[in-house]
Amino acid sequence: MDLKQGLAPGLTVKEAAGRKLPTNKLNHLFIGEIKMSSNVMTTVKCEEDLFCGVNMVKDWDNMTDLEKKHLPVITAPKSVRKGECFEVMIEVGKLMQHPNEPGHYIEFIELYADHTYLARMDLTARRTSPIIKICVSLDHVHGKLRAYERCNLHGVWEGHAEIEVTD
Ligand SMILES: [Fe+2]
Repeated sequence: MDLKQGLAPGLTVKEAAGRKLPTNKLNHLFIGEIKMSSNVMTTVKCEEDLFCGVNMVKDWDNMTDLEKKHLPVITAPKSVRKGECFEVMIEVGKLMQHPNEPGHYIEFIELYADHTYLARMDLTARRTSPIIKICVSLDHVHGKLRAYERCNLHGVWEGHAEIEVTD
């Protein structure tokens, strides 16, 4: 393509690039460039990309259906004794059922004591449900129990529960 096609007479491409769009033909030339740059501008921002980082509930008093379907809900005692086994249950879809089909399902659930890894369960569509129970024993805890799940279509989601460890 001849870049000079459509330029005002005597105007170079370099000169035209720095000017307002004086003619329809020149507009056409620049619209092509805008389309190219619009590909970059339509790139999803990090905070809007479900697959970038970990998703969390934004407003607990006004949860969206997406949040209700993906939040891993932890059921565990609020206080446990050091070194004693206690049960932790993690349910995805407790607040609103999540699909469980090959094209859309929960791939795994993980449990952490704050940032210390405890357990992981890989899941398959249809034949398993995204509900797990684990016996856990803690010497101490730095903070919350944290559960993570990954939906193949909607990324990783975090849920948490307060817990204290007593002597
Ligand atoms: Fe999903």
